[in-house]
Amino acid sequence: MYFTKQILILRLGVYNYWSHNIHHLSFNIIFYFYRMTHQQKLELLEKKKQEALLGGGQKRIDEQHKKGKLTARERLDLLLDAGSFEEMGMLVTHRATDFGMDKEKYSGDGVVTGFGTIHGRLVYVFSQDFTVFGGSLSETHAEKICKIMDLAAKTGAPVIGLNDSGGARIQEGVVSLGGYADIFHRNVQFSGVVPQISAVMGPCAGGAVYSPAMTDFTLMVELTSYMFVTGPSVVKTVTHEEVTSEELGGAMTHATKSGVTHFTAKNEVECIEQIKKLLSYMPQNCEENAPNYPYETNGSEMREELKTLLPVNPNQPYDMRDVISKTTDENSFFEVHKNFAENIVVGFARIAGRSIGIVANQPAYLAGVLDINSSRKGARFTRFCDAFNIPLLVLVDVPGFLPGTDQEWNGIIVNGAKLLYALSEATVPKVTVITRKAYGGAYDVMNSKHIGADMNYAWPTAEIAVMGPKGAAEIIFKNEIKKAADHAQKLKEKSDEYTDMFANPYRAADRGFIDEVIKPEETRIKLIKAFRMLENKVVQSPKKKHGNIPL
Ligand code: HXC
Repeated sequence: MYFTKQILILRLGVYNYWSHNIHHLSFNIIFYFYRMTHQQKLELLEKKKQEALLGGGQKRIDEQHKKGKLTARERLDLLLDAGSFEEMGMLVTHRATDFGMDKEKYSGDGVVTGFGTIHGRLVYVFSQDFTVFGGSLSETHAEKICKIMDLAAKTGAPVIGLNDSGGARIQEGVVSLGGYADIFHRNVQFSGVVPQISAVMGPCAGGAVYSPAMTDFTLMVELTSYMFVTGPSVVKTVTHEEVTSEELGGAMTHATKSGVTHFTAKNEVECIEQIKKLLSYMPQNCEENAPNYPYETNGSEMREELKTLLPVNPNQPYDMRDVISKTTDENSFFEVHKNFAENIVVGFARIAGRSIGIVANQPAYLAGVLDINSSRKGARFTRFCDAFNIPLLVLVDVPGFLPGTDQEWNGIIVNGAKLLYALSEATVPKVTVITRKAYGGAYDVMNSKHIGADMNYAWPTAEIAVMGPKGAAEIIFKNEIKKAADHAQKLKEKSDEYTDMFANPYRAADRGFIDEVIKPEETRIKLIKAFRMLENKVVQSPKKKHGNIPL
């Protein structure tokens, strides 16, 4: 209809054959229509924008709301500082023509992309729009995501993806698969360059789950988000298992069983708040440090509560989170992977306003033993911190590695090696505090001096030895115990002997493997000073292409 308002000029030519000279006569027929005014051009732009803002249309938006989900744009409004969002590619449409797709186009093509700020810091964002072909990924949808990822790498700022997608756009075939691979390749190229965070806020199937898996952190919303490579109907066909979407790939499944998600949230608003909080512990890119924050001192950094935190009986559990909360800045601990492999606790905190990463054995769960999942969890977190210059604090109370056929057959050797590798490889400032047990190989693994820790502290309650006193006595005094009239009495006697000799921090301190045995209540002061001292740490690693972490 806008053409009808323009001037159309037709130039007609007529050839004259009646004379010897061919005359070319031409004349103009001018159709006068209305010329498009400046105002109308603005209205056209506005109309296009309004169409784009509606995504797949009001009906589908209403359906999205009915499911308890926000739209792609509403999510970005919550995530970014007010008025900071600058959209890119709002008018992009797909190029598909098969299956009548040329007749069904939506501006933006199912993803809102651009940049903005969170608490004043630049971030790049994409937010998939489920109202357009179920947020499925077309060639152009992928191009839009790649464009902001490229800019993020060039300018050194995090990428945050809000995922809500049925996977590859089925009507586009291999073109869509190619689009996914273009994103995956960038996920990998920019891994360790800029932080990448994925929130899963709807059903994410097929290719839609692999990009989140390759980013640094994944968050899921309880009961409205799912992640699976193939959904329940395919599972039923192939394995004859009956399983719901929630059981197969809901937030709690991935938080507790697979460990695919690092965080779960009760709703989308909470999920977005978690993203903002998470970001506050990270730098913009691998060449910067995380921002410092003010903290409360109350005058004294002594923490008297730590004096009595450990139970008298060394086999009684206690919650390592209490040690964390008493040594780090008040309310600064932000736990990662809270519901997965709970025998190790990992997360971010601040010490005197500076961001740190914590890897800590958890005696309150399976006595803090190291097993396959806790090793994987600790290793992944360690590598993130190291990639982004976040110093590491390792808190140790570990009886060793978990024995058993299940662990051995599923690869405790190679998985335990992941944590050993990650902590050995890390070049950020590394500080260790052994609160109680540090037995066997787990002593080596948990950021010992020997694998490159910078400051190693132990509490007087520390027990650093090859194994626990009872087990040790049973092996090395086997014959003596057998011969004794009272086996139990002899075993106790020999265990006590071993305890006196080895179940303390002094053998290790004597060798310099422990830099200082400290009183529990002065731990925070020691940590503040140690991390301050290590601020300018520089390590030159041997030249290599990349290491070969046991995967
Ligand atoms: C095109 C899609 C689509 C897709 C959904 N839609 N998925 N369009 N390509 N992949 C469209 C639907 O046709 C529908 O359009 C709208 O999105 C909403 O879908 P519904 O099914 O009505 O919604 P819901 O019941 O909530 O179910 C959501 C869903 C389901 C679980 C995501 O749609 C689904 O299973 N989709 C297919 C998932 C899948 O198998 N994807 C391909 C994976 S292969 P209308 O017009 O009605 O609104 C893959 C390979 C990549 O991704 C591998 C790389 C490693």
